[in-house]
Amino acid sequence: MSVGNTEIAANILQKLTGADIFKLEPLLPYSKDYNECIAQAQEDQRRDARPELKSYPDSIEAYDTIYLGYPNYWGTMPMPVFTFLEHFDFTGKTIRPFCTHEGSGIGRSESDIGHICPGAKVGSGLAIRGGSVESSENAIKRWVSSL
Ligand SMILES: Cc1cc2nc3c(=O)[nH]c(=O)nc-3n(C[C@H](O)[C@H](O)[C@H](O)COP(=O)(O)O)c2cc1C
Repeated sequence: MSVGNTEIAANILQKLTGADIFKLEPLLPYSKDYNECIAQAQEDQRRDARPELKSYPDSIEAYDTIYLGYPNYWGTMPMPVFTFLEHFDFTGKTIRPFCTHEGSGIGRSESDIGHICPGAKVGSGLAIRGGSVESSENAIKRWVSSL
């Protein structure tokens, strides 16, 4: 199976930080066909859906800081990421968002995270252009050490 842009960025981050890593996957995956994927994801956003995830981490208790990565879907996170954020209580935790995109940057995702997780501290996010993700290690390194 091919590895997506966000997963490539997450793997770089994991290598730099030694953090535990967990892949969020919707129970019903979006289509591999680009146009169909667009239609399905857009419909989820329109309905403000909370698509079920395949699995969840058992607990986030042990983590003070969570790096949250996702692709930009129309200016914010894919709806399954909303599902994840509503599943746990992030009060007292720091969320550091990073996003891959094709021009819109991190969009409104940081403020969306803040609304869903009002007790969390949302760190300044990192936007990585999807097409340049393979060469983003230095940018990720700078971001990690700037926080
Ligand atoms: C459904 C969908 C919506 C998208 N909407 C945007 C967008 O609004 N702005 C943007 O810059 N890129 C958008 N993109 C491009 C993706 O954010 C970009 O290709 C990202 O790197 C994909 O990451 P992935 O390979 O981990 O899925 C969209 C892609 C898809 C499939």
